[in-house]
This record gives sequence, C-alpha cells and structure tokens, in this order.
Amino acid sequence: MNLLNSHDLLRFFDPVAGTIAGVAPTQRHLGDLHGCFADTATYERMLAAGNPLVYGVSAVEPARADGDLHYALAFILPGRVGAEYFMTKGHVHSWREAAEVYLGLSGEGAMLLEDETTRESRMLPLRPNHAVYVPGKIAHRTMNTGSVPLTYLGIYPAQAGHDYTSVANRNFRCVVIERHGQPAMVERTLL
Ligand code: 6PG
Ligand code: NI
Repeated sequence: MNLLNSHDLLRFFDPVAGTIAGVAPTQRHLGDLHGCFADTATYERMLAAGNPLVYGVSAVEPARADGDLHYALAFILPGRVGAEYFMTKGHVHSWREAAEVYLGLSGEGAMLLEDETTRESRMLPLRPNHAVYVPGKIAHRTMNTGSVPLTYLGIYPAQAGHDYTSVANRNFRCVVIERHGQPAMVERTLL
C-alpha cells in the first residue's frame, strides 16, 4: 500500500446509519440466517411473510500484508424472531489467533462470545462508549437489543478471515432473548 491512495487512508462514515461513504455494504437478509434462531417455527413463518433486511457490513480492506489491519462498520436493524433479537450470522476467525476490537457507535446491542473449545459463553453489552475485546479463538455474534439500528465498528488483523462453517455446524450454545424487557443469555436447548 502506498500513501498516494488517499481513500485508503481516510474514510468518512455515518455512525447512526452504520455506512461508509463509497463502500457498498454486504447485506444479510433473514433468509441468510438459516439455523441461527432457535425458534425455527417463528423463523419460517416470518420468512414466508417476506425476507426483511437484518444487517449490513461495510468492510475497508486496503491491504493484506503481515501487520495490516482491516475494519468494518456494521448496522443491525431492530427486530426479533420470537424472543430472539435480530443478530449476525456469527463466526470465528479463519486465522484462529486473530483478535478483534468492537466499538459501539449508536443504538443498543449485545455480543455473544463463545470459546470454541470449552463452549464457555459470555454476553456483553455493545453500545456507544463501549469497547469490546474479542480474543482469538472466540466465536462472536452481535445482536440489536434496542428499538433503533445498532451500529458498531470492528477492527481486526487483515489475515483474520471469516469461518462461518464451523460455527454453523455446531451453532452457538446459547441464544440471547428478550426476557422481562431485558436481554438474557440462555442455553439454546432450553428455549
Ligand atoms: C469481522 C467482524 C465484523 C462482522 C460483522 C458481521 O470479523 O469482520 O467481526 O465486521 O463481520 O459483525 O457479522 P458476521 O460476519 O458474522 O456476519
Ligand atoms: Ni470477527
């Protein structure tokens, strides 16, 4: 990368919309989230009634050499499938050692972290002024727990990559649901 490609050095983003000028977001609709929600009956019913947009991710990936960084600005729309909040597919990084920092920008959300080996799970809040550190080897998924779009920035090593398959195969052990108006983490099998 050289210093003359100025748009690789400076980008302008909208923290409320969760978009970056000049970057087309990758869009994920409800139909892209097969297997994510524990309440499959409600999922199929909602899907039959339409295929709403759930979230979008705008990634800036200027270079891929050792030491480079990538970042992505994402928005998740408010909504639920039954008691489960609209969420991302979730992944673990293909390069397992790759950690990531999330910065909450607008709205209210939560992150579900799961240790690949022990399946130990944690739910953490993600909202403005919150920085969440996702260590390596940890599967991560984000959900909008509020009533307006949740937006956040994620910064990760350029070599991280996304492994969706191993997460899809075993699924997250826990789900995040609304209970008494609050987000709560519960075992998937207990829902
Ligand atoms: C990443 C980040 C983040 C993530 C989005 C969408 O590694 O790039 O964790 O930008 O991609 O939150 O989530 P999914 O990648 O799981 O769809
Ligand atoms: Ni990630």
